[in-house]
Amino acid sequence: MARKPEPVTDPLFDVAGKTYLIAGAGGGLGGVMAEALHERGAKLVLFDTDEAALERVAEAIPDALARVADMNNQAALAEMVQLTRDRFGNIDGAINAAGLLPMAAATTFDEAMFRECIDVNLTAAFLFSRTVAGQMQDSGGRIVHIASVSSFVANPEYAAYAGSKAGLAQMVRVLAREWAPKNILINAIGPALTETPLTRDYLSDPDFRSGAIAAIPMGRLGEADDLIGTLVLLLSPGGGFITGQTIYVDGGRTLV
Ligand SMILES: NC(=O)c1ccc[n+]([C@@H]2O[C@H](COP(=O)([O-])OP(=O)(O)OC[C@H]3O[C@@H](n4cnc5c(N)ncnc54)[C@H](O)[C@@H]3O)[C@@H](O)[C@H]2O)c1
Repeated sequence: MARKPEPVTDPLFDVAGKTYLIAGAGGGLGGVMAEALHERGAKLVLFDTDEAALERVAEAIPDALARVADMNNQAALAEMVQLTRDRFGNIDGAINAAGLLPMAAATTFDEAMFRECIDVNLTAAFLFSRTVAGQMQDSGGRIVHIASVSSFVANPEYAAYAGSKAGLAQMVRVLAREWAPKNILINAIGPALTETPLTRDYLSDPDFRSGAIAAIPMGRLGEADDLIGTLVLLLSPGGGFITGQTIYVDGGRTLV
């Protein structure tokens, strides 16, 4: 089998030797991001609530530290940050790729499900941001959240998800202003619909799938790999003057 080529190292986009903490690292997008950063020489601490999913990702990255932990738990977050510092000395960046996607018509939306979606996608994202930022006060750092095209577009049945992701995008703008003087840069990436465990069931419906593809001007679903260029930019010297932004990597989905 042909060996994957080594990524070319440009100092502008270099993440080698940097330490990143990744929430939701067992997921479809988080797992690919972890592998991409590993391939580029980063040191990684991975966590997720799903042990089996996390193990699958961690197997391919033997020198990463992987733990089952809940991003929606302040004590667990403090432990993850401490663990990262104990193992690697400091935290250069943190990536939040955890999230939930419940969909239902507003009139029948289950209240507990709605609250859980806001809790994980928005409140836990806040807890994660401030916990890592607390460790970045002296040296600065980078925080990247995975928002969504739903931070911007209004799809029926997405009240909880779109509400949480629009809130996330605006929260990123506020935190960016609070932390810019400390050189802590915080941004989000807004992907279009991508086939992962989060979306697989919905996409198994042919009508949903064809509608999703039709809504993307470039005529295909997203791929996890599409996000890597933007992720690396936001974590590396090249992204050193970008903060408070949600960058849509969406084949044009937010244009229609
Ligand atoms: N897949 C898409 O189409 C898509 C599009 C736009 C945005 N996003 C966003 O990207 C992020 C990743 O999505 P994905 O497609 O990889 O989903 P996924 O379901 O494959 O992965 C999400 C991971 O987050 C973990 N998780 C959930 N709650 C957690 C918590 N409280 N603490 C720690 N881990 C937790 C899950 O166990 C899972 O492994 C989500 O925020 C999602 O909303 C996904």
